Formats: sequence, C-alpha cells, structure tokens
Amino acid sequence: MEGGGSRTVISIISVFLAFLSCASSYPALQNFLQCLPINSNPSHPISGAIYIAGNSSFESVLRAYTRNLRFTTLETPKPLAIITALHESHVQATVICAKSHGLQIRIRSGGHDYEGLSYVSKVPFVILDMFNLRSIDIDIAKETAWVQAGATLGELYYKIATTSKVHAFPAGVCLTLGTGGHFSGGGYGAMMRKYGLSVDNIIDAQIVNVNGRVLNRASMGEDLFWAIRGGGGASFGVILSWKIKLVRIPPILTMFNVPITSTQGATDVVHRWQEVAPKLPGDLFIRATISSANGTITATFTGLFLGQTDALLQLTNQSFPELNLTQKDCKEMSWLNSTLLFYGYPEGTSYEVFYNRTLTQGPADFYKGKSDYVKKVIPKESLEHIWKLAIKAGITFMQWNPYGGRMSEIPESETPFPHRAGNLFKIQYGMTWGLENVTNDRIEASRELYSAMTPYVSSEPREAFLNYRDLDIGQRSDFSKKKDLKEGRIYGIKYFKGNFQRLTKVKAVVDPDNFFVNEQSIPPSLY
Ligand SMILES: Cc1cc2nc3c(=O)[nH]c(=O)nc-3n(C[C@H](O)[C@H](O)[C@H](O)COP(=O)(O)OP(=O)(O)OC[C@H]3O[C@@H](n4cnc5c(N)ncnc54)[C@H](O)[C@@H]3O)c2cc1C
Ligand SMILES: *[C@@H]1O[C@H](CO)[C@@H](O)[C@H](O)[C@H]1NC(C)=O
Ligand SMILES: *[C@@H]1O[C@H](CO)[C@@H](O)[C@H](O)[C@H]1NC(C)=O
Ligand SMILES: *[C@@H]1O[C@H](CO)[C@@H](O)[C@H](O)[C@H]1NC(C)=O
Ligand SMILES: *[C@@H]1O[C@H](CO)[C@@H](O)[C@H](O)[C@H]1NC(C)=O
Ligand SMILES: *[C@@H]1O[C@H](CO)[C@@H](O)[C@H](O)[C@H]1NC(C)=O
Ligand SMILES: *[C@@H]1O[C@H](CO)[C@@H](O)[C@H](O)[C@H]1NC(C)=O
Ligand SMILES: *[C@@H]1O[C@H](CO)[C@@H](O)[C@H](O)[C@H]1NC(C)=O
Repeated sequence: MEGGGSRTVISIISVFLAFLSCASSYPALQNFLQCLPINSNPSHPISGAIYIAGNSSFESVLRAYTRNLRFTTLETPKPLAIITALHESHVQATVICAKSHGLQIRIRSGGHDYEGLSYVSKVPFVILDMFNLRSIDIDIAKETAWVQAGATLGELYYKIATTSKVHAFPAGVCLTLGTGGHFSGGGYGAMMRKYGLSVDNIIDAQIVNVNGRVLNRASMGEDLFWAIRGGGGASFGVILSWKIKLVRIPPILTMFNVPITSTQGATDVVHRWQEVAPKLPGDLFIRATISSANGTITATFTGLFLGQTDALLQLTNQSFPELNLTQKDCKEMSWLNSTLLFYGYPEGTSYEVFYNRTLTQGPADFYKGKSDYVKKVIPKESLEHIWKLAIKAGITFMQWNPYGGRMSEIPESETPFPHRAGNLFKIQYGMTWGLENVTNDRIEASRELYSAMTPYVSSEPREAFLNYRDLDIGQRSDFSKKKDLKEGRIYGIKYFKGNFQRLTKVKAVVDPDNFFVNEQSIPPSLY
C-alpha cells in the first residue's frame, strides 16, 4: 500500500514532468518529425541533421552558435529540435514541415544576433541551423564568388586572400559573423566608405521560400531580391547562398591604431574627427572608439587606408593634422592581415582563426548593443558631457563609424538600408559583462545612456541599424496578426525609414500568412 502509493506519486510526477518539458507542443513536434522525409535523399539523409531536446548532443549543438550569454540562462526558452541542414533539401523539408504542423522556425547562420532572435522564441519552435552549409566558390576571372549562408566572414576573407592578393570583399569586422544574417542585415566594415555595404556588392542569391521552393534572382524577382539585401532575410525565407562581386584593392594597405586620452586632448581630436572623417576620400576609414576606465575617457582612432604610408601621411597631415599621425604609427600589410588587426588580434596571430571553428565556438560574454546616427557635429561642451554620461553608465565602448564617401552616393531606396547621405557617423553602444546577476543593471545603464544621447542624434525617426538588433526600439507584443502593421511600423521606420512600406508589400506577396515571423520581422501590409 505504502510502496504502491509512492510509486503512483512518482509516476504522476514523471507524467507531469514529461508534460511540462514537452508542453502542449509535443504533438506538433512529433508531426513535424514524421513529416521530415527521412529516406528521400539517400546521399544526404536528413536523419543525420536532427537534434531533439533531450538528445545527448542537443545542448552542445544549441550552444555552439549561441554567441551571447544573455540567452543561456535557465529562463531562456529552448527549441523543440534543431535541424543542422546538410543539404538544401533539408532546408526545404524543414520549412515545409514546420509550416504544415504549426511550428515556428528560427534561422541561424553565425548566431550573432544581438537579441538572440536566431535561436530563441517565446512560442514552440525549431532552429534551422545553417553552419554546415558553408562552401565558398570563387571565380576570380569574373571577380565573383558564391558563398553559402553558413560560411563565416573569416572563411570568406581567407579564401579570397589565398586566391588573389588584389581582391577583397567589403563586410564586417568580426570574423565569426555568418553571411546569412550579416549580409541580409546590410553588412558594413572598414571598406564601407570606398565600396559601400556588403549588400551593395551582392549580385544574386538563392533562397528557399515559404513553399519550400529554391529561387534565384531571376525566379524570385527584383522586389524580393531587393528586400533581402538589407531588410533582414528572416522575414522572407531562408537564404541558402549569395553571389558576391569582389572588389579590387592594392596588395598592400596601411593600418594605424592611435589611442588619445582626455588629458592628451581626446575631446578636441574627436570634435575635429566628426568634421573630417566623413569627408575624407573613400580610401581612408577612421573609426573612433570611445572607452572609459578609472573615470577617464580614451578615444582610439583605428584606421584602414587602401594605399601606402606616404600617401596616408600626406592626406592626414593636410586634412587631419590634429591626429598627429606619424610614420611609426603606420603599419603596411596585406588586406588579410589587416582584418586580424582591425578585429583586435595581435600581429602574428595564426591564420587558423579564420577557419577554425572550435577556437571561436561558444558564447564569450553577456552583451547588449544599441545604435544611433549622427547628422550634426556635436559641440565640444556636449562631447565633454557625453564622456561623463559614458563614464556614469560604465559603457564598455562606443564605436563611432564615419559615413560619407561611397555611402553618400547610393540612393536611400537602392536597398532597404536607408542610412546614406546626410549621416556623419553611426554610434554603436556596446555593453559587455561577465556575471548574470548584473544583467538588469547593465541593460538599464545602456538604456539610460541612450536616452541621454537623444539631443545629439537623429530624430523622427531616431534611426537604428538592423544588424545591431535592439528590441528596446519596438517589438511586436505577440505573433498574432492583428497588431502586426501598427507595431511593426515602430521599429520598421527606424531601421528602414521610407523603405519600410515597400518591404511590407514584398512580404505580403511572398509570405502573406506570416510564417517567417519574429519580434522584429516585416509585417505583411495586408492587415
Ligand atoms: C562581435 C560582433 C561584431 C559585429 N561586427 C559587425 C560589423 O562589423 N558590421 C556589421 O554590419 N555588423 C556587425 N555585427 C552585427 C552582425 O552583422 C549581426 O549580428 C548579424 O545579424 C549576424 O549574422 P549571423 O548570421 O552571425 O547571426 P544570426 O544570429 O545567425 O542571424 C541574425 C539574423 O538573421 C537571420 N538569419 C540568419 N541566417 C539566415 C538565413 N540563412 N536566411 C534568412 N535569415 C537568416 C536570423 O534569423 C536573425 O534574424 C557584429 C556582431 C557581433 C556580435
Ligand atoms: C541524437 O541525435 C543523433 C543525430 O541525429 C542520433 O544519431 C542519435 O541517435 C540521437 N540520440 C538520441 C538519444 O536520441
Ligand atoms: C585603472 O586603474 C587600475 C588600478 O589603479 C590600474 O591597474 C589599471 O591599469 C587602470 N586602467 C587604465 C586603463 O588606466
Ligand atoms: C607630415 O608632417 C610631419 C610633421 O610636420 C612631417 O615630419 C612629415 O614629413 C609630413 N609627412 C608628409 C608625408 O607630408
Ligand atoms: C599633436 O602635436 C602637437 C604639436 O607637437 C601637440 O601640441 C599636441 O598636443 C599633439 N596632440 C596630440 C593629441 O597628441
Ligand atoms: C602577414 O602576417 C604574417 C604574420 O602573421 C607575416 O608573416 C606576413 O609577412 C604578413 N604579410 C603581409 C603582406 O602583411
Ligand atoms: C582548432 O583549434 C582547436 C583548439 O585550439 C584545436 O584543438 C584543433 O586542432 C584546431 N583544428 C584545426 C583544424 O586546426
Ligand atoms: C554577483 O555575484 C558575484 C559572484 O557571485 C558577487 O561577488 C557580486 O557581489 C554579485 N553582484 C550583485 C550586484 O549581486
């Protein structure tokens, strides 16, 4: 009796636990898994790509491309399954089966989304993980390449540089970004003032649409091809690969990295930088990174010049003497070497970091990012005030990235990315921390700094950069359709300005039922 009673209690508890862990979505998962065509592709069986919650490798697969510790806590919702597509047919099957069985998908390439939208959702979901699809095929005679969505920038840069010393591609600084997310959100880096964004140099793409069909530029049409070049891929389908146009560079470039503290006159130099950096020739990109330590500010000027030291010094002597750049600050090197230094690796770092994923796997820090655009030079007194705000917030860094050059020549409506002429620079506010118990405090501090920056930055709309995803600027409260357009407009206008409306029209045509949805996806304008 006694024993039987406790067995009953135990079995009730275990049924209850099983119920809890599978929640009400368990039948949907079973149906989804049964729908996946296990035997249809003998050379690429999908069975090798399925990881189900509870499977021994599930946690490590989930964590491998979870790049922000904020989304590794006990409260973080987890997917019911992860499909690590090994072939495009697995992508097609995942879309078709998730759609027909009412599961949401989250698409993950490099996993760097600042708000974890590629691997977290508040409704039952599966992750479509693209990291295995990462081939890069370069046609150097035509100066083009096909790059799969799961390739990282490091892999792309390495492959280009080992194929040609005089070709490159304008994309981001962080070498572990996935091209799937990074390109579809714009993609900028140190060659932006010369060659524009990644999306300004994309000439074709392959995408799996909501019906599971593989489309290219010709079959998707120019509207959808326009939308995925900066409007975020995740609202429209699954990007399989991009065809990019390589750009020409000299075999030797010049880099410098000059820190200037407040006592050395950082305020004056930053003040001047605002006027100069956006007007310099496109060959020269000078980022100013503001950091604080021990109650003082340091502004670090990191430059990439598409040429050699003599020409660089002539240019800075004439246009930006306040920087006091000298020969000994300048280092000549290959483009590949410059990408290492720009990302902060020391000279001589092994090239393994370009392609060894075990080196860089796993999350590093807790992170919160925010962005702003500046259109008017900030006066010196205001800069001094901003330094105080930054110190008070304990912000880890503020990256000020100059615009102008090629960025000002491309019309706002050419791609969904609208932040073109009229911008002096973009600010990224970066907050990192290492302990979960200060998360709320650190996020609140970055919000306070952002709020205090209101007078100095763009307004109506206060513009933001999609790749620096920030749910604080607006998000849908649920995934129901009714509120879609109204809520979508709030973040949509900030990310896309006048291009938002065209994005909603494209969405209404290619995904009218809103299958590809997330907290900041493009709503179909039908509602
Ligand atoms: C350390 C660091 C440095 C950065 N530096 C730069 C920089 O220099 N320049 C810059 O522009 N940005 C930069 N970013 C931002 C970066 O571009 C974005 O976070 C970008 O979205 C990352 O792409 P991902 O594929 O790695 O991320 P993911 O998290 O995999 O994806 C991001 C978004 O794209 C969607 N997505 C991913 N793959 C696909 C696909 N195949 N098809 C459709 N949708 C897809 C996801 O669902 C998600 O919504 C940086 C980010 C970090 C963390
Ligand atoms: C876990 O997933 C792998 C890969 O799909 C599979 O081979 C293995 O049998 C699964 N293990 C369990 C316990 O489900
Ligand atoms: C800040 O102060 C500490 C302790 O005095 C010192 O160790 C550290 O190097 C200082 N940091 C900077 C960036 O000056
Ligand atoms: C730049 O100015 C410095 C100091 O005035 C001078 O020594 C140097 O020769 C100049 N370099 C060039 C390339 O003009
Ligand atoms: C630049 O050089 C001038 C003249 O030598 C000096 O007065 C000034 O302090 C220097 N500025 C910085 C930021 O080092
Ligand atoms: C690039 O860096 C490596 C060391 O990491 C060095 O051996 C090589 O000479 C550098 N090449 C160029 C052209 O910068
Ligand atoms: C990648 O780096 C890891 C960790 O340093 C190392 O164990 C592994 O051998 C490296 N892989 C390759 C292919 O070089
Ligand atoms: C957070 O945790 C660390 C270590 O567990 C502790 O030292 C610190 O005081 C805690 N901070 C707060 C704000 O609770």
